[in-house]
Amino acid sequence: MARQFDTIIKGGTVHTGAESKVADVAIKGEKIAKIAKNLSPDGATIIDAAGKLVLPGMIDVHVHLQLPFCGTVSSDDFESGTRAAARGGVTTVIDYATQDKEKGMYAGFERRMAEARDKVAVDYGLHGIVIQWTDQAAAEVKKMIDAGVPTYKMFMIYEKEGWQSDDAAMYAALEYTRDFGAKILVHAESERVLNVLIGRYVKEMDKVGAYGHALSRPNFVEAEAIQRAIMWTEQTGGTLYIVHMSTGEGADLVKAAKSRGVHVYAETCPQYLVLNDEVFKDREKGHWYATCPQIKKKKDNERLWKGLKNGEVSTIATDTCTFTTKQKAMWGGDFRRIPFGLPGVETMWPAIYTFGVRKKKFDVNHAVTLCSTNPAKLMGLHPRKGALAAGSDADVIVIDPKAHKKIDYKELATNCDWSPYQGMDMYGFPETTLCRGAVVVRDHQFVGRRGYGRFIPRKPGGKL
Ligand code: URP
Ligand code: ZN
Ligand code: ZN
Repeated sequence: MARQFDTIIKGGTVHTGAESKVADVAIKGEKIAKIAKNLSPDGATIIDAAGKLVLPGMIDVHVHLQLPFCGTVSSDDFESGTRAAARGGVTTVIDYATQDKEKGMYAGFERRMAEARDKVAVDYGLHGIVIQWTDQAAAEVKKMIDAGVPTYKMFMIYEKEGWQSDDAAMYAALEYTRDFGAKILVHAESERVLNVLIGRYVKEMDKVGAYGHALSRPNFVEAEAIQRAIMWTEQTGGTLYIVHMSTGEGADLVKAAKSRGVHVYAETCPQYLVLNDEVFKDREKGHWYATCPQIKKKKDNERLWKGLKNGEVSTIATDTCTFTTKQKAMWGGDFRRIPFGLPGVETMWPAIYTFGVRKKKFDVNHAVTLCSTNPAKLMGLHPRKGALAAGSDADVIVIDPKAHKKIDYKELATNCDWSPYQGMDMYGFPETTLCRGAVVVRDHQFVGRRGYGRFIPRKPGGKL
């Protein structure tokens, strides 16, 4: 007779976004079959979780693996990036497929699928990136939604890369997607003003070094863009999701918009919570930290933590876009030429567990909500992902709450030769990670395989 369960994670404290309880989690095939006390082993493989935390796999809805950008290609590819994800307890990532200028959105999607398919070690999805809002793009949105892509990023910067959307494109896309339950994801920075400020600090390049990157992007550069995007969302009735929000002002604007009933959500990232712009002052290493939007000030860290607790900021993701020190060296002393981006998927959950939960900014259930359940709901993955419940995918992590380590890039799975968190003491690395029922991390080591990850089609209309 076939056994009832394949695996039982036994005796741990199960934390979902909603509750905590001591229970066994039983898995059959790729799904969670049952959560209950004292399940009979009956031939199942047992993972002993006594004294451990058992959580749903985390979902990083913002990564850029092997992205051609800033004259190079981000160094974590779909293989190393998703190994790193698994080691950090992330069982689903969402990357981006850029619209092909000649062939269109769907062609861009197919190309990105082909790049990812054979390499990914955990499950994945794709957002579209709209760089030209045309009639063809609008028609393709419907086809993309049917293929499981209900979310579209638009950039208010990166004119020289040819990625920037102007006000007309953003307004039209918000209006059009409203009727399909699709979301517009916005990178909100005000490029024209930014260019004025860059021009100003370029003249002082020798004096300011990498700190020029921070000086040329004061908070209002993001806040002004958020304000505009919110206004168009309010007028069109569309749905806006602000990616990588970095400022306290952004949180204030989202709070006010939400109170008026605007459909707006915001994401922030560990770098905007744990780091501050002092990092750019290091004359040797300051340029390594350059990312867009850039890391802000301690008061922004505090306001964003508060926003996460109070609901103005709904999700945490990483914007992983890894560049090695060799790639970062391409800047040659010119802050405009730094490859922009940071590694992060592997340290997302440990950073939030360490500096959020352990520092009592919020409890572990809320941290699960921010890093797993809310991303799954907003991005159309719930309840398949982001839940620990019978019928959901068996994406589960097991953590020893006492285990901690000093971050050392040499011990991480990312192929980056530095870490923004080097030397920080972090808790929360999973001892075991399961993705759709398969153990992909055992005793903190990656034991999964390249190509195991599956594309997960997502549904439109995700709300909180
Ligand atoms: O600097 C960053 N964040 N690089 C990735 C591209 C983006 O803007 O998200
Ligand atoms: Zn961006
Ligand atoms: Zn990004």
